[in-house]
Amino acid sequence: MSTVALHQKYRPQTIAELVGQPYIKTALTNAVKYLQIAPAYLFTGSRGTGKTSTARIFAKSLNCLNTKKPTDQPCGICQSCRSIETSNSLDVSEIDAASNNGVDDARALIERSTLAPVAGRYRIFILDECHCLTGNAFNALLKCIEEPPPHVVFILCTTELHKVLPTIVSRCQVFNFRTLSVQAIVQHLGIVADAESISIDEEALTAIARLSDGGLRDALQLLGQVSLLDEDITANHVMEIAGGVTQTELMSILQAISTNNTFNLLQVARVLVDSGKTPKLILSNLLQTYRDLLIIKSAPKEQSLLTGCISYAQLKVLANHWNFETLNLSLAELQKAENYLRYTVNAAVWLEVCLLNLIPSLLAVSATKMLTVKPVNDKGHDSNLLPAVAANTANLAQIWQQVMDTAKPSNQKLLAHANLVKLQDDKAILEVTPAYLNKFESSKEAIAKMLQRATQSQQPMTVLIKTANKSSNGRVKA
Ligand SMILES: Nc1ncnc2c1ncn2[C@@H]1O[C@H](COP(=O)(O)OP(=O)(O)O)[C@@H](O)[C@H]1O
Ligand SMILES: [Mg+2]
Ligand SMILES: [Zn+2]
Repeated sequence: MSTVALHQKYRPQTIAELVGQPYIKTALTNAVKYLQIAPAYLFTGSRGTGKTSTARIFAKSLNCLNTKKPTDQPCGICQSCRSIETSNSLDVSEIDAASNNGVDDARALIERSTLAPVAGRYRIFILDECHCLTGNAFNALLKCIEEPPPHVVFILCTTELHKVLPTIVSRCQVFNFRTLSVQAIVQHLGIVADAESISIDEEALTAIARLSDGGLRDALQLLGQVSLLDEDITANHVMEIAGGVTQTELMSILQAISTNNTFNLLQVARVLVDSGKTPKLILSNLLQTYRDLLIIKSAPKEQSLLTGCISYAQLKVLANHWNFETLNLSLAELQKAENYLRYTVNAAVWLEVCLLNLIPSLLAVSATKMLTVKPVNDKGHDSNLLPAVAANTANLAQIWQQVMDTAKPSNQKLLAHANLVKLQDDKAILEVTPAYLNKFESSKEAIAKMLQRATQSQQPMTVLIKTANKSSNGRVKA
């Protein structure tokens, strides 16, 4: 394996090799072709989108010695091209404005600009990270940029256009480097991976692309990092190395939520937090996944809109567990939790609370308290019960189920003949099948204790037993 970092090894050498940036490519190619060279250019855009690379390519294009005039196909092998590549050119100065930002540096530069080029046609100044220049330095440069000697070209690069003096900006031809699309990055990474014989699947490449915020430098760096694993690379490897929440981990959270499995849910959360993943990171990954689920619900064909790390196929299966409204409520819940996380000192606890609130049956309860939305039953139809009643019923049924689960097997049969119909403070009302009325009456105390345990109430409970009335179909099974 080579020791040169991938992003250095695969720096584009000609304008045509630039990924994306179609307008910039056309404009610069034509500038060279028609010899319309501006005295000053300003390349702006976020990191890793090709600014410095383009500045060097353009310098080579202007000064390549293998042609009689500037060319859009610099040879890359003449003395001028090579010296620009190694930053040794006498005519092309690449100045890191972050460390040469004072007015004296600017004056020295202006002085050099008056000298004729040594070997090439132009004297070119590439001012990288030019937003770091002080106001005085900018002002000193102003005149020179406005009316430079005919053989001088300035190329200013910056990630922060708003920090550059407006008077400077207005004297430059400004090129805005766009962040690259996930597709463009995946495609480029695929080419590099092939050339380097890195075994990595499409999902993993997509995961890398999504993590790199539209910048190719970060993407190539991450690819280089995962390529050090001696195995076929998957999206999980990528998330693991990038310190993110893996697809497998997210899937176990979502599965626990969709199946009301409180125990598993809290356990997965605890393991994640213990392994060093912050609650904030976990929540933001969940938020992204719920957003993706919502997209799958509303625009099932728009794969390209997905941004999370769970694959389209898996999302489609998962999405069946929720309806649109529940997903929407879950997103609101997640957003609320993100806000709380900002202020709390006990983030792990808030994470747990939030996860529990995402469990669909509990979500319905808190939602009816917060908003007036119609709850829907598990078939996705509007429930014909009033919202509060529906939510309450779900909640009470769950508590009763818990009581039954913790009872001795010999008692479970009897308990199945009752419904918990009301629970207020320390009073519970049970509706039972008439034939078992006496049995329930005699076990009231025991049931009260079980209910107290299930609800984790501090005070003892009183249980009232009544018979189920016939109009409710005699249905008492929970
Ligand atoms: N548009 C692009 N096309 C091809 N490679 C790119 C592009 N943008 C960035 N890269 C890759 O990232 C590395 C850093 O790019 P660079 O031009 O220094 O970005 P910037 O100056 O915008 O931060 C390059 O060496 C190259 O490997
Ligand atoms: Mg740069
Ligand atoms: Zn050349």
